[in-house]
Amino acid sequence: MRDAITYIVFGWYPYLCLTVFLVGSWLRFDREQYTWKTGSSQLLRRRQLMWGSNLFHVGILVIFVGHFAGLLTPIWIFDALGISHTFKQWMAIVIGGVAGIACFVGMTLLIHRRLFDSRIRTTSSFGDIAILLLLYAQLILGLATIPVSLNHLDGHEMVKFMNWAQGILTLQPGVSALLTDAHPVFRAHLFLGMTIFLVFPFTRLVHVWSAPIWYLGRRGYQIVRSGRPAGGLPAGAPRYPAR
Ligand code: HEM
Repeated sequence: MRDAITYIVFGWYPYLCLTVFLVGSWLRFDREQYTWKTGSSQLLRRRQLMWGSNLFHVGILVIFVGHFAGLLTPIWIFDALGISHTFKQWMAIVIGGVAGIACFVGMTLLIHRRLFDSRIRTTSSFGDIAILLLLYAQLILGLATIPVSLNHLDGHEMVKFMNWAQGILTLQPGVSALLTDAHPVFRAHLFLGMTIFLVFPFTRLVHVWSAPIWYLGRRGYQIVRSGRPAGGLPAGAPRYPAR
């Protein structure tokens, strides 16, 4: 029974989540990009918002980069670089732990502001509150993995998670068997993590796709002109005359 659940949750569920994540994001990007927004209520409790938002974003970005590189870099690259599994496990604990605590403080401020200020509460949708609480639960589960990881500093559990993540992305659902005996806190963290991918396109998290990384791949230059010819525009002329 446990094997069957493991296979469904860690072998098939990831593909459901990834498909909804990619297709859903693409549809929203293609059809309704202008409907996504951060949903900010910036004018209220600005200081708390600034601290909360900055700590949350810095923390979660470090966690994101750490998870991405830590889970998806083939283990032979770490071996070739002479980075031992124990050292890598310590890096995950220390870097992920510090970023996780920053993120936790930030999210606590944001959640407090959103739930306990009645003006902000009334303007928040169910989705705004639900996604914040989902991320908060995921963060707490992530932090709760640290004491478990401290019990196996040789990194063998961490290598299992790397092989699982890389196996899933190379279309091998059978790698789910690696997680049969994983600690429940890891199983819960992985399950909720995949669920976040599942609901991503339906939440304000889609604004992540607006990160200005697109500029990095842009070909050519954008020429910005003032729109004012050398002699000045005649009075009443439109600033950008139609061609
Ligand atoms: C699909 C999404 C996710 C997956 C597959 C995932 C997976 C993992 C794994 C395998 C670990 C243990 C690393 C180790 O000790 O070897 C971990 C730790 C952790 N995760 Fe996640 N995670 C996901 C999303 C998140 C999110 C969204 C957050 C924050 C909101 C988060 C916060 C943490 C924290 C704070 C730790 C402990 C520090 C560390 O080891 O980096 N995780 N995660």
